[in-house]
Amino acid sequence: MLYVGVMTGTSVDGLDVAVLEVADELSIVAAETVPLPATLAESLKALAVPADDEIVRLGVADARLGEFIGESVCASLRRWGIPGKDVRAIGTHGQTVRHHPDAEPPFTVQIGDPNRIAEVTGIDTVADFRRRDMAAGGEGAPLAPLFHAALFRPRSGMRAIVNIGGIANVTILPVGSGVVSGFDTGPGNALMDAWSRGCLDVPFDRDGRWAAAGNVAQELLTRLQDDPFIRRPPPKSTGKETYHLGYVRAACAGLALAPADVQASLAEFTAWSIAAAINCWASEASEVVVCGGGRRNAYLMQRLAAHAAGRQLLTTDALGFDGDALEAAAFAWFAHRTLQRQPSNAPQVTGAEGPRVLGGVYAGG
Ligand SMILES: Nc1ncnc2c1ncn2[C@@H]1O[C@H](COP(=O)(O)OP(=O)(O)O)[C@@H](O)[C@H]1O
Ligand SMILES: [Mg+2]
Repeated sequence: MLYVGVMTGTSVDGLDVAVLEVADELSIVAAETVPLPATLAESLKALAVPADDEIVRLGVADARLGEFIGESVCASLRRWGIPGKDVRAIGTHGQTVRHHPDAEPPFTVQIGDPNRIAEVTGIDTVADFRRRDMAAGGEGAPLAPLFHAALFRPRSGMRAIVNIGGIANVTILPVGSGVVSGFDTGPGNALMDAWSRGCLDVPFDRDGRWAAAGNVAQELLTRLQDDPFIRRPPPKSTGKETYHLGYVRAACAGLALAPADVQASLAEFTAWSIAAAINCWASEASEVVVCGGGRRNAYLMQRLAAHAAGRQLLTTDALGFDGDALEAAAFAWFAHRTLQRQPSNAPQVTGAEGPRVLGGVYAGG
């Protein structure tokens, strides 16, 4: 049985499309990242920060993204020679435009109209995965841990799976049927991307070369390390509402620093915060397995290895799972679970009252 998963993460760098085969074992049979049209990407990024006329802009972007996801899934399936009728369902995460688990009441908003995806593709579409967990008292995030557990349970010892997207999250996998845990550790690429865009007008610091050319500014690093989210115990989740260019500027206030030194400090802070989470909450982990775009940042990986000293650092690719497709594939699997009326949240991870069947189903053709 084939399922399609689609995901646009907080980085807004592209639409990840993955086909997951659900049999005795799970396998990703095809995957690609489709570039987002520039105007759509800009409108999604603009919606992530408060500004005027949000409802109209949200309505338009919701429809446009839904249409684009539907068309992209059709085009990808055609390219791969997979007939739409072979796909049981599409699981779509949507684009997060707000995530406020600490608000009263807590809320989270993902857009990318699933009605349009079902209409364009004719395939059953499952969407809106996070809000049921929140309704049950959870953070609505992270959801990936259950999928990581299905794929990467260690035969011995303990493994930490780290997804370095815009935000970074960790899944802690003990051996056998030990309890899975997981949480957002803080920024992934978000701060480094924001500073690269702000100073150099490039979307990201390729391979971390700019950061590697700078020197860590100790005073800035000390300020960053005082971050209240990083110091908070799990369950916890965060978003780009917290980790954006304004966060970097506020931390730099009153310091005269070369831009490359700021970038080096942001990379150091990011690597340190991920490693600190593992060292504190998964101290027995012998392996740290990385997925997401941040694994391509050679300098960040080097600093992560330094801070997670004594643990083996590898990528999910080395374990047979494309690290760019994993999050999209998770939502393909969640769509399968929704149709089977099986839960997709891990209550100990999100803080929800219990396991819940997540998402709504939008009938295809
Ligand atoms: N070669 C590279 N060097 C440094 N960073 C990279 C590289 N390739 C991708 N990235 C980073 O990965 C990010 C995208 O990661 P991704 O896992 O798609 O995040 P998200 O889930 O937030 O969309 C980019 O914004 C960039 O910061
Ligand atoms: Mg992405």
